[in-house]
Amino acid sequence: MTRRFLFLLGSSRPDGNTELLARRAAEQLPEDVEQRWISLAEHPLPEFEDLRHDSDHVRPTDGNAALLLDATLDATDIVIASPLYWYSLSTPTKRYLDHWSGWLRTPGLDFKATLAGRTLWGVTALAHEEQVVADPLIGSLRNSAAYMGMRFGGVLLGNGSRPGDVLRDTDALARAKTFFGQEPVQARFPYEEEAAARLTR
Ligand SMILES: Cc1cc2nc3c(=O)[nH]c(=O)nc-3n(C[C@H](O)[C@H](O)[C@H](O)COP(=O)(O)O)c2cc1C
Repeated sequence: MTRRFLFLLGSSRPDGNTELLARRAAEQLPEDVEQRWISLAEHPLPEFEDLRHDSDHVRPTDGNAALLLDATLDATDIVIASPLYWYSLSTPTKRYLDHWSGWLRTPGLDFKATLAGRTLWGVTALAHEEQVVADPLIGSLRNSAAYMGMRFGGVLLGNGSRPGDVLRDTDALARAKTFFGQEPVQARFPYEEEAAARLTR
């Protein structure tokens, strides 16, 4: 099956470090892999409204919600390219994931069944030198993938504050070269990993 990568740019500025790093990693994708890039700042989603227990969601038919929903359903691989903001996902990225909760309950979409088995990836830039501070962002993406029955490809991390800084992070650029070549594994919640580790002990 042809793989179709959807890159969702979640920075609040254009041409930032996260996008630069994501583009470096994407350069390594084979030619027959489709790439679609969508900036969430240029295609803002409406504020998420939690209607789960009030009424049926209806499928959006126009605007950015329809664009992003269709792009999501069409992708075999979804790449969340979010800078690290307050140790977690940026607001546009988080709002996009919040909309998944609505799409999960939209009749006729089969959102969860469609995404199951597909892959979620992350790319993030952060100013902090110690990468461990990005654990909340990594956990958000990994647990979200586990909840959806998706595979998780991991998060490519790069260091930088001003736009362009990440291009001096040679370790990140080296990781970018092989990042999408990794075989993504079925995402599991941490407690599932722990239970599996206990069984093999
Ligand atoms: C609102 C905001 C919150 C931030 N929070 C963090 C943070 O928690 N940890 C960190 O290391 N850097 C933080 N930064 C710095 C950015 O992660 C860093 O500048 C990054 O390169 C931005 O990515 P971009 O160039 O793709 O926009 C923050 C920046 C902003 C604007």
